[in-house]
Parts: sequence; structure tokens; C-alpha cells
Amino acid sequence: MGNSLLRLCEASKGSEAIEALGLGRDQAPLDKSEQFRSAVAQAIESFKPSHIVNAAAYNAVDQAEKEPELAHRVNGEALADLSKLAAHAPARGENPLAIVHYSTDYVFDGQKPKGQAYAPFDPIAPEGVYGQSKLAGEQALAQGSSPSLVLRTSWVFSDHGKNFVKTMLRLAQTQPQLRVVNDQWGAPTSAHAIARATLAIVRQWPINGSRGVPHEVFHLCCEGQTNWHAFACEIIERSRRIAPQLNWTITSKDMIQAIGSQEFAAPAPRPANSHLDCSLTDQTFSLTRPHWSNALDEVLSQLLLKPQDKAS
Ligand SMILES: NC(=O)c1ccc[n+]([C@@H]2O[C@H](COP(=O)([O-])OP(=O)(O)OC[C@H]3O[C@@H](n4cnc5c(N)ncnc54)[C@H](OP(=O)(O)O)[C@@H]3O)[C@@H](O)[C@H]2O)c1
Repeated sequence: MGNSLLRLCEASKGSEAIEALGLGRDQAPLDKSEQFRSAVAQAIESFKPSHIVNAAAYNAVDQAEKEPELAHRVNGEALADLSKLAAHAPARGENPLAIVHYSTDYVFDGQKPKGQAYAPFDPIAPEGVYGQSKLAGEQALAQGSSPSLVLRTSWVFSDHGKNFVKTMLRLAQTQPQLRVVNDQWGAPTSAHAIARATLAIVRQWPINGSRGVPHEVFHLCCEGQTNWHAFACEIIERSRRIAPQLNWTITSKDMIQAIGSQEFAAPAPRPANSHLDCSLTDQTFSLTRPHWSNALDEVLSQLLLKPQDKAS
């Protein structure tokens, strides 16, 4: 996500231009409190940002069950540090330094009946360590004295880093058969769509001269929803059409078996219904969000038509 944000900022021009400074894990490790605080404090002093966007997270959902302390440090406590650092920064114009942060559908238990979406103010009930640690981050920001805006999203994919789309492309060229769960529903969302919306939001928030310190939570996903099995079928079928010359080992939908979550038996629980209601976000920031299907086409073209540029 950080990569998509930086690429979009670099491409922004004229009156729409946004200058950005990216800090990676080497410079600002969220698990090393002192190094993190010192790097962020220095960056605030030299760059004088209006906003800090935190796109870093511990998001190894299953591994988090074995490393709860690390997950809580990175996803929870580091946000308290960030809020304090921002609060000590001198205000630019009327607004104090504001934080934009990403959270997840995993803060909900996913038990809402299929077809009903979670609103930002619905009761939260994370079931695993990852969701609990992300909720801790939301709470740290809400209790801090810097303005904060949390964007909960779901099923993120992009042409960069590790994600479901890239995993399916790899498996479809190496495995004779796939098994994918079909009882978890949500909205696949491209990092590019999130980044584009984030920049639109940053231009409008916080409202100039707003009273008190705003702490807000919004939902931000692509339009539409699907389940992981149907998503895998779409990824592989479209990819075979875009790049028929590749050595596909999965050559039909029949080779992608639909299974239930119980059969898959992942170490961490996953919400069955991850559908997030984004209508408040659309109204507040006048956004038009792409359908996941169009966002998928965009990412597959990037991955399959210029694959030599992509990190695995
Ligand atoms: N992926 C999803 O499906 C999903 C769903 C809902 C919400 N979200 C949220 O969306 C946001 C972005 O997720 P993403 O999928 O774009 O993640 P991503 O591509 O995996 O990016 C996470 C980044 O965090 C960095 N990071 C991890 N541990 C760190 C540490 N201790 N110190 C500094 N940096 C560290 C990673 O660095 P390295 O590259 O060096 O590991 C990586 O650059 C996160 O807040 C996540 O919780 C994601």
C-alpha cells in the first residue's frame, strides 16, 4: 500500500500535487520503539508534513497467533507512539499534524448474515490476535491527542509485495490442482484504489479549523463482493486470457476445488462475512470507488504485461 501511495504522489502534478516522504522498515521499524520514534521525529522536523499516513502493519494473520506481542507492538503500541509524536509537532496553519491509518475487516467477527454489510459504528469483536492488535491500534489513535482517521479495508491486492492475486498466479503455474475456501465473503480491494481514495481524503480532511480533535473511522473497499474461491477462478481465468503463452498448470475451473473454512483449517479464525459498508465514506468525501473486477483487470495487466518489473 505504501508503494502505491508513493507512486501516486510522484505522479501527482500541478495544483493536485502532493509531496511525500516514504519511510521503510529499515529507517522506521515499528517493532523497535526507540529507533521508530527517533526516525519519525526527525522526519517530522525536516519534512514538516501536514499528514502522516501509516501503511505499515504486521499482517501475517496466522503467524500472529504465535507472536502476539510482536503483533501488538507493531499494530497497537506503535500507533500510540505515532499519535504522541504528531501531537508534539508544530501545527501547520490552522491544523495540527494529522494521522491517517489503515485497519481491517478482522475487527469484526464476521457473523452478520451474508448480504448485510458492516457499518463503521457496528460492534467490534475481533476473533484472532491480528484483529485484536489492529483494534488496539484504532483505540490508541482514538485515545491520542492527534487528529486521526482510520480507514478499514479488506482483501488487499496489488502488483507489489505478497498477496492473494500473486499467490494464485504462482500456484496456477506450478500446481496440478487448487483448493480454495468458498464460505468467506468480502470485497477484494486494490492498493491502488485505496491509495487514490486516500489522496482524495487527505486533500479534504481534517476540515479547516474543526473544533476539538477529530477521531474518525471510515470503511474503504472496492465495490462488489465475492468469495475467495470465485475470486481465485476469476484471477486464473482472466490471467490465462491475458497471457496464454505462460505455462499454466491450472487450465480450467474444474481444477480449482471449492472447500469450506473448516476443511482448510487455518490457524487463525477469519470472518465469514467481511463486507464493509462504504456509503458514509462515499458521501463524506465524494468518492467513486471502482468495482473489484475492474481493479483486478488493472493489476493483472500490470503483472502479466510488464512482469519483468515486478518484485515477487
Ligand atoms: N492485506 C490485506 O488483505 C489487508 C486487509 C485489510 C486491511 N489491511 C491493512 O492495510 C494496511 C496495508 O496492508 P498491505 O496488505 O498493503 O500490507 P503490505 O503490502 O504487506 O505492507 C505492509 C508493510 O509494513 C511493513 N512492515 C511490517 N512490519 C514492519 C515493522 N515492524 N516495521 C516497519 N514496517 C513494517 C512491511 O515491510 P516489509 O515489506 O519489509 O515486510 C510492508 O512494507 C495494513 O494496515 C493492513 O493491516 C490489509
